[in-house]
Amino acid sequence: MMLGAERVKWTSGGRLIVDEVTLHVETGQTLGLIGPNGSGKSSLIRLLAGLRAPSGGAVMLDGKAITRFGRRELARRVSVVEQHPSTEASVTVLDVVRLGRTPYRSAFSAWSEDDEQIVEEALAHVGLEQHRDRHWHTLSGGERQRVQLARALAQSPSILILDEPTNHLDIQHQIEILRLVARLSVTTVVAIHDLNLAARFCDAIAVLEEGKLVACGSPLEILTQELIARVFKVEAHVAKSEYHGRLHIQFLM
Ligand SMILES: Nc1ncnc2c1ncn2[C@@H]1O[C@H](COP(=O)(O)OP(=O)(O)OP(=O)(O)O)[C@@H](O)[C@H]1O
Ligand SMILES: [Mg+2]
Repeated sequence: MMLGAERVKWTSGGRLIVDEVTLHVETGQTLGLIGPNGSGKSSLIRLLAGLRAPSGGAVMLDGKAITRFGRRELARRVSVVEQHPSTEASVTVLDVVRLGRTPYRSAFSAWSEDDEQIVEEALAHVGLEQHRDRHWHTLSGGERQRVQLARALAQSPSILILDEPTNHLDIQHQIEILRLVARLSVTTVVAIHDLNLAARFCDAIAVLEEGKLVACGSPLEILTQELIARVFKVEAHVAKSEYHGRLHIQFLM
């Protein structure tokens, strides 16, 4: 399933927040979206997920404008975890993950063994099998983030869109979750601040600055000392890691 943005614009309160972004996500690949705070990552994520209609241009899914898909139809293809997901306090972990199956069910279809198995797999992927009966309001920030990811996985999407999925996670879970996402055959767009994680787990990187796409390519092409200095205003040393062969970035502090 092909996802792309064609000169996508989004304006709010007379301000241009996403400024004619054109990009294509290769099927099965993980695209990392990086950029300073306020550069438009979450805004672009919402447009790519079809949660919001662009003010100009179009987001295309398999050659069709995403705004032309019905809600259920879209939810079977694309799942999204937002930066600040809102969830009712009283629901359990299992309830939230089961919500992922909603787009596949009709008023008449019973909960199936397939649904159950998919939900169990999703819980296992994020390591929360033991926490299935916990209530949302009792979960830590990182646990909530993993529950939301499990819900998105249970949706069996072709395209997974994640807004800073690792910002609350400990280092073990950061690595596990990104490794999982990179390994899945699902096409993924992930907004991420940690440039080392982006270098390690993304096939391609897109850089946003003040709503504009200023660079897009492989981590090796994009994550240069010059770009990091220009976009993030930080001096960095970039080298190939002798451990995993991907880029390693050290910040001069
Ligand atoms: N609904 C809105 N109405 C008006 N301005 C908005 C709205 N949503 C976001 N903005 C503004 O648009 C800009 C981009 O916001 P966005 O949340 O997309 O940035 P971001 O790159 O995700 O930042 P962060 O790294 O902090 O998550 C910011 O200046 C923000 O204040
Ligand atoms: Mg954001």
